[in-house]
Amino acid sequence: MLGAPGAGKGTQAKLISGRFGIPQISTGDILRDNVARSTELGKQARAVMERGELVSDQLVCGMVADRLAHKDCERGCILDGFPRTVRQAKWLDQYLDARTFAGRKLPPVVIMIQVGYNQLLQRLTGRRSCPTCGRIYNVNSQPPRVAEVCDVEGASLIQRKDDKEEVIFERLKEYERQTLPLVEYYREQGRLHELDGELPADQVTAKILTLIERPAAQAGSND
Ligand code: AP5
Repeated sequence: MLGAPGAGKGTQAKLISGRFGIPQISTGDILRDNVARSTELGKQARAVMERGELVSDQLVCGMVADRLAHKDCERGCILDGFPRTVRQAKWLDQYLDARTFAGRKLPPVVIMIQVGYNQLLQRLTGRRSCPTCGRIYNVNSQPPRVAEVCDVEGASLIQRKDDKEEVIFERLKEYERQTLPLVEYYREQGRLHELDGELPADQVTAKILTLIERPAAQAGSND
């Protein structure tokens, strides 16, 4: 799942994960969990994330390799926020070349969620999430039933540290510099599907489901 910060990768990955019963692997969530627990990895990643920069390819690829080795990935998984550099994408290609899932090869379906700059800013500054279940809300477009309280858990919603305006600008710059080149990388491989992420979330989900159900046939489409 490719897209700028705030494009809706996490929102969609959670929905698709529930639908197919395969795990969502969010490198951002794994890193934040490590930061919260002050693990060695978290200590190395913390300052980098707070500045809005990318954590090193070596750390992130090692972390993804560990996660993909878990049994729940046997039928596939949704990679949310990974790869996001060309080096990470090359690492993933090699990994997938060498690996089978329940005895068969699983070529990646690359979905790029497109959202304009102003909309991204509005989404990121308005985002809130539940510290207990991870559910994502938005004070503007997807508010909880009671302000600042999770509909399911009743917990007080939190705002991510990197959703401050100055950090958001850095994250968007990093995205343009390091992640946008992946669009060309996957387009050349004929794997890229681009979606209009400004549609309501349920319409974006419907388009993603169609793509996953007919992956190889329509690569290169603008849906
Ligand atoms: P990460 O956690 O991956 O953050 P990100 O890529 O910046 O993406 P976000 O989580 O901010 O946005 P999203 O696209 O998931 O949007 P969401 O669904 O929440 O990474 C954080 C940091 O970790 C990085 O900066 C880096 O330091 C490090 N990192 C992570 N992966 C790395 C890697 N591979 N390599 C190196 N470093 C790495 O939606 C946003 C808001 O919009 C929500 O409020 C939601 O409710 C709303 N919304 C969603 N869809 C819609 C819609 N269709 N209409 C209206 N509102 C919507």
